[in-house]
Amino acid sequence: MDHLLPVEILEAGHAFPQALAACGDLDALLRLKGAYVGREGSHAARLMELLKGAPKEQKRDLGAAINALKQQWEEGLKARQAELEAAKKNLNALASSWDPSLPPPVPARGALHPLNRLMDRLVEVFRPLGFHVEEGPEIETEAHNFDGLNIPEDHPAKASSDTFYLAAHPELLLRTHTSPVQVRTLLRVAPSLERHGGIRFLAPGRVYRKDEIDPTHSPMFHQVEGMLVGHDIGMQHLKGTLEYALRALFGPHTEIRLRPSYFPFVEPGCEVDVSCPLCDAKGCRVCKGSGWVEILGAGLLHPNVLRYAGIDPEEWSGWAFGMGVERMAMMLSQTPDLRLFFENDQRFLKAMGGLD
Ligand code: PHE
Repeated sequence: MDHLLPVEILEAGHAFPQALAACGDLDALLRLKGAYVGREGSHAARLMELLKGAPKEQKRDLGAAINALKQQWEEGLKARQAELEAAKKNLNALASSWDPSLPPPVPARGALHPLNRLMDRLVEVFRPLGFHVEEGPEIETEAHNFDGLNIPEDHPAKASSDTFYLAAHPELLLRTHTSPVQVRTLLRVAPSLERHGGIRFLAPGRVYRKDEIDPTHSPMFHQVEGMLVGHDIGMQHLKGTLEYALRALFGPHTEIRLRPSYFPFVEPGCEVDVSCPLCDAKGCRVCKGSGWVEILGAGLLHPNVLRYAGIDPEEWSGWAFGMGVERMAMMLSQTPDLRLFFENDQRFLKAMGGLD
């Protein structure tokens, strides 16, 4: 039937498979489609004209030839379109997928809270002196929090205006200081005190008081308790130990100063100041111009504290201290507002150096 077709159409038919394979993308394919089977000006359109004008007796054969040709083109175009579409999809997927030659993304990392880091640092400062860590519950008994510490019945700390008691258990409360860990630990180690030649430990943790929140107060804050029991322990041991520890913390030129003070569980008792590390004791906002900053309470163990735990105060002696962690952290980092430590604003925590 080919003899019925014009020569240029026959040539176009021969060229079709190659032209199809040469289409590198969908645009090129569309152009080829227009040239072969488009409505106007295409080879197919020309063939339809031809069919229209053909003598009647040729129409059947010519029609069959034209249809065969058109069908071949249409099928070829359709198959190539599917191929090109699939290739394009693969390319897109590849472009958006993981590139193994790139360094891996760094996941966001958590970090210890600055207050925990400071408590850890204190533990590390005392560790070479043989201090280990003791813990106690945050819900305490009146006996551990007050009685075992020689705190009298009428002491203001026992008032419900100062302390959180548990409504359903009036003998339980949120501990007001870390000192009950002294009582618990002494009760536990009393029988083996001689064998171990005494005891020394730190007790870091949370404490609770009925304070309104403001830039320097919070109903929950942290303390680190320190305690040592041995033979012939005196103020000189307390002072020497604190001097070592506070110099490790605030710098080697730090001076310390003991001022007499009262806590029922120590005798004598004192408050301890450090020379202001921010202004070199010249006087600044933090030390309120005095050159000294109060850092902790301390003293020699009251005989009643040892007695309560069944330890003979004629034979044993010791000291204890308790320091406020927030206060120390505020000073070391020059943070003016205590509340920043509890708001967990990532910008603050990052500035404190914990997060990267
Ligand atoms: N527990 C006291 C307080 O919270 C601090 C302290 C501890 C004082 C040990 C002396 C000895 O204020």
